[in-house]
This record gives sequence, structure tokens and C-alpha cells, in this order.
Amino acid sequence: MKNLLVTGGCGFIGSNFIHYLHTIEPSLRIYNIDSLTYAANQDNLANLKGKANYVFIQGDICDSDLVERVLIESDIDTVVHFAAETHVDRSIYGPEAFIHTNVVGTFRLLEAVKKVWLSQENSNSDQFRFHHVSTDEVYGSLSPTDPAFSESTPYAPNSPYSASKAASDHLVRSYSHTYQLPITISNCSNNYGAYQYPEKLIPLVVLNAMKGDPLPVYGDGRQIRDWLYVIDHCDAIYQILTRGKPGETYNIGGDTQLTTVEVITTICAIMDELLPQSAVLPHNQLIKYVNDRPGHDRRYAIDATKIQNELNWCPKTNFQEGILKTVNWYLQNLDWVEEMLSRKDYKIWLEKNYDQRGEDK
Ligand code: NAD
Ligand code: TYD
Repeated sequence: MKNLLVTGGCGFIGSNFIHYLHTIEPSLRIYNIDSLTYAANQDNLANLKGKANYVFIQGDICDSDLVERVLIESDIDTVVHFAAETHVDRSIYGPEAFIHTNVVGTFRLLEAVKKVWLSQENSNSDQFRFHHVSTDEVYGSLSPTDPAFSESTPYAPNSPYSASKAASDHLVRSYSHTYQLPITISNCSNNYGAYQYPEKLIPLVVLNAMKGDPLPVYGDGRQIRDWLYVIDHCDAIYQILTRGKPGETYNIGGDTQLTTVEVITTICAIMDELLPQSAVLPHNQLIKYVNDRPGHDRRYAIDATKIQNELNWCPKTNFQEGILKTVNWYLQNLDWVEEMLSRKDYKIWLEKNYDQRGEDK
């Protein structure tokens, strides 16, 4: 791995991944292609600006000419594909953008990579790797007693977001099977950590609690997610890139199944300690039950036995430690927070998703 192309590197996980790789592989040249949607923030990578081994390219992954040019001119040998529309609630209001980026974008990227890497000059495809970053949501919803998702669990996506990710996973798999493109896929559970756009549960709750705004719980708040600290996800992707087998899928999870209400009350307790002068102590008085998300998946859980056994990966950060670091990060990065909160898109989103939502009875 000498020249790496990251897609969607100005988003939450992509920017954490670039920081992580820059630290552990300082000589690696990293190219980041990102179209800078509402979820992106170039400041996430401000400390890399101007460095010789980091190049930012503003562009859409659907732009085949641009992608091909970057692949050839920068002699890219590895692609890690994060770029996506990622918010389930937005996919319910407007699925089309999800089809554009997650399905067509992944398809165009695969075509470009196939054309450049599998050309006659490049007879040894072992030197390349296309890693596709996906989600556990493709497997659908579990009942409380169902076993966790394994790599052989049948796909059953329930939201336009998860359906578009499932479609992209299938495309990636097919390029391995049909064209022998050297790919790997990972399906990961919910991430949390620094730089996450505050429309997702954890940063939304931290920032709303900070402002004294309601903490919206969809439905009964007993939906279960398996939470993973984002740096552990980055480490898992790195292990797959360097030691994973081409053609394989790996499930990645935090082994931490929590309900929405458990997550919110944990954050509130941390905020009570960190902000003893707050006007809204205890912060959990801000919890407000609101109408549920349509088609809301009840439970996700990941069985990460394969990546543990084959690549000796397991999460290093437990939830108590990771969530404390995360809350502290948002409280200590108020410039970043203020910039996000002041965005017009963010205000429009809050109005659209919450103002008319109504309370859950
Ligand atoms: P994010 O929404 O924070 O960031 C997505 C990034 O992709 C943004 O910077 C955006 O500008 C960029 N992007 C979107 N469309 C693009 C396009 N057409 N061309 C170029 N760039 C484009 O997302 P995230 O939470 O960092 O998720 C990254 C990946 O990880 C996604 O593929 C997602 O499905 C997957 N994933 C996320 C989680 C999670 O909990 N966040 C869990 C498992 C898997
Ligand atoms: P989210 O962060 O949107 O991730 P995902 O839907 O991809 O799992 O939501 C995590 C859980 O929190 C999910 O069960 C929905 C719930 N949730 C709320 O109860 N209130 C909210 O305002 C949000 C954004 C999410």
C-alpha cells in the first residue's frame, strides 16, 4: 500500500480513518475524494492541509472521468470507499440521493477501478485492493432472542438507506466473482466518536443537552444498537486491508448492545459530571418521547467471530471509556460544534425532522 484513495474522507469515519492512517503509516500518500455534501467538514482534516502526503480532491464519485484520472495519475493501489449518504431518517424523506451515491456512485467507482487496475499493463492484481465500507443494517432487524448477524446472515434491508447499501455490497461482491477484482467488504455496527455530524443520535444528544434542548427518543426508546468506538472501526479496516483475504466479507462490531434510552441516560450522567453549573441538571429531564421513525429497525447486533479469529481484531475501547472521550471531544471543540450548529442545512433538518413530529403516547 503506497498510494491510497479514500472516498468520503471529509465525513465522520473517513476523517477519523485518515487521521488514524496518517499516524500509523506516515509515509503513505493519501488522496481524499469528497463532494462535500451537508455531512462533510474539511476542518476535520485541517491539520493535514498542505502536507506533501495528503491531497484533497473535491469531486463526486459518480464522475468517472475524474476518478479514472486520479487512479492513473496518482498511481492508486488501494481504495477505501466510505463515500455515501448515511442517515436513515433522510433516506425516508428523500431516497434518491441514496441511490445516486450509494448505488450509482459505487458502480462507477468499481467500473473505473476495473478499467485501470485490470488493464493489460497491470497483470498482477494482487498489488491492488478495493475495500468497501458497509453497515450491519443490510441484515435487517433482529428480535430480542435472535442470534447476532454473521457474515452468512441473509440480507433483509428495511430502509432506503440500508437497501442502497445492500445494493452496493452486492455490486462489489459481483466484481470480485465475475472480474476477479481484489475486493474486501466490511459490515460494521453503529459508530460513535469525534467529527460525527450532529444529526446522528450520539452527537445530537450531546449538543442538545449542552444547549438545554429536548433529547428526542423515537417511539419507546428500546431499540437496540451495537455501539463501536470509531477508532476501533478504523483499526479493523486497516487489519482487513493489510491482512484480510481478497473476496471476503468481515463483520465488525462493538459487542455493546444498548437501548437508545440507555445511551441517552449514560450521556446525561456524564454531562451532569462535566457541566456541574448547567442550568438543566440533571440533563435527563430533557428526554422527550416523540413519534417513532417509520419502519424503525428494532435491534442490530454483530457476531464478530470471523474477524477475531482470522485477523485477531477485537474492540479495544469499551463504551464507558469511548463515550466519555466522545462527550469530552464535543465539549472541547466548540469551534467545530458552533460551525456545525450554525449551518443552514442543520437548522432546516431539525425543523423538518423534529418540529412537526409530535409526542409518543
Ligand atoms: P458521513 O455521512 O459522515 O460522511 C459521508 C461522506 O461522504 C461526506 O463527507 C460526504 O461529503 C461524502 N460523499 C457523499 N456523497 C458523495 C459523492 N457522491 N461523492 C463523493 N463524496 C461523497 O458518513 P459516515 O458515518 O462517516 O459513514 C461512512 C461510511 O461508513 C458509509 O459508507 C456508511 O454507510 C458506513 N458506515 C457508517 C456507520 C456509522 O455508524 N456512521 C456504521 C457502519 C458503516
Ligand atoms: P442513528 O444515530 O440515526 O443511527 P441508525 O438509525 O443508523 O442506527 O440512530 C440510532 C438509534 O437512535 C436509532 O434506533 C434511532 C434512535 N434515534 C432517536 O431515538 N432519536 C433521534 O433523534 C435519533 C437521531 C435517533
